[in-house]
Amino acid sequence: MTEINEFWQNYIDGEWVDGGAGRIAVTNPATGEVLAEHALADATDIDHAVQAARQVHLSGELRDLHPVDRSRILRAMGRHLLDHADEIAPVLTLEQGKPLWESRVEVHGAARYFEYFANQAEAVEGRSIPLGGRYFDFTVHEPHGVSAQIIPWNFPLELAARSLAPALAMGNACVVKSAELTPLSSAWLGRAAEAAGLPTGALNILCGYGREAGAALAGHPDVNQIVFTGSVPTGVSVAKAAALNIVPCVLELGGKSAAIVHEDADLDAFVDDVRWGIFLNAGQVCSAMSRVIVHESCHDELVDRIAEMAESLSVGPGIDRAEFGANMGAMVGELQRDRVELMVTEAISDGANLATGGRRPKDHIGAFYQPTMLTEVTQEMKIARTEIFGPVLSVLGFRDDDEAIEIANATQYGLVGGVFTSDLDRATAAAKRLRAGQVFVNEWYAGGVETPFGGWGKSGYGREKGREALLNYVQTKNIAIRRR
Ligand code: NAI
Ligand code: MG
Repeated sequence: MTEINEFWQNYIDGEWVDGGAGRIAVTNPATGEVLAEHALADATDIDHAVQAARQVHLSGELRDLHPVDRSRILRAMGRHLLDHADEIAPVLTLEQGKPLWESRVEVHGAARYFEYFANQAEAVEGRSIPLGGRYFDFTVHEPHGVSAQIIPWNFPLELAARSLAPALAMGNACVVKSAELTPLSSAWLGRAAEAAGLPTGALNILCGYGREAGAALAGHPDVNQIVFTGSVPTGVSVAKAAALNIVPCVLELGGKSAAIVHEDADLDAFVDDVRWGIFLNAGQVCSAMSRVIVHESCHDELVDRIAEMAESLSVGPGIDRAEFGANMGAMVGELQRDRVELMVTEAISDGANLATGGRRPKDHIGAFYQPTMLTEVTQEMKIARTEIFGPVLSVLGFRDDDEAIEIANATQYGLVGGVFTSDLDRATAAAKRLRAGQVFVNEWYAGGVETPFGGWGKSGYGREKGREALLNYVQTKNIAIRRR
């Protein structure tokens, strides 16, 4: 059993401190037992953190560095995470539920954001604009100042790194509000900042309740830019808070993403994609493949194969699942498991067929749920339109290409989408017509930190990952000089 500190603190202005709102118990969802306590921030703590970030910003300590110096700091932060992967991964698994090998992948993913955006730190340049003989005109990109980042519990380390790395690369000082269910692993971001020599106060990390600390951060008048990942209703309240202060925000709000499977698809490869698409992190992934839209000619065969794969996954405590393989851990907590269970029950009463799963495994007491597949799902059902955020695949059938696209585009979301076919024309036509920020052809999750990611519709706005992400963290200033 991994030894875990009994009490974890917030990180404000370079100090590890207690919280004004007391402490929160962090539980291990695989057992229901309390793992540790974490300091809980109140609005005053948030204000201290924002003021610390603002002071660093105004001092120029971060903003005025040569970009290569910020690049080196970020690179060292990524290195620190990699060097401590063996310590971080078990803590992440114990607080979040995912298999230990998935936690290791997450630590590497977080480090990768620091590497990638370290490389980009030097690559953002302005342009020179001709205005005739008497003028010399050019643009510069300047950081907003204080970037507020509200992080969810599904990939607590990786999603914090996703916004932190580009924000720091562009010279913003950051205040991170970690998720109350999974605050522990974020401590290594603070330690990485210390080890790398990031200016004190340029990174602050606080755990607190969303409605208290989260809302205080989103509405703080000295915050200059906001990044939020989470549910649509919370996204709406963050966007309202941003609007009141007239600050830009990036919203990443999940989806109900669909894979279209044609009769000429490679079904073996596709079943493997389903394994990652909906059962990685027990389906608690914003870009999960939560719908499969399959041609009627191969529907039954595909359903049989997916059921076989789903039933082959061994479900149990993530900490015992160190090796990459056919396994799944606990969900983040009982509330999330119960939410998913209720949606499955409703889908069945709406007429969906439970093809596999749909139960809590008998041999474990924690927040476990079996890999589940619902078939005979129709577009009218709530399950076909609402994000589930659990290990539950909905299968719908189609007869022709137009119908497939129509079903895929029929939700209010539009985060990602996929098309599986060996026909290039069909693939490119679908890629153009899918209403989503990212389209996968013949491989779900193809891409990486280098490829822009973000949604249409209720999936949110702004782009993360890739060079596009840098634009969230700068504003353009035009400087025009007139010669006498
Ligand atoms: P949530 O959106 O309430 O929580 C996400 C983060 O927002 C947490 O750090 C939370 O403390 C914070 N927060 C909550 N209320 C806030 C407020 N008023 N102001 C500022 N920050 C606030 O999501 P929740 O309740 O944990 O999960 C509900 C559903 O949201 C899930 O079932 C899933 O459908 C979706 N979700 C989507 C995610 C994604 O990656 N797109 C991640 C997490 C949840
Ligand atoms: Mg927990």
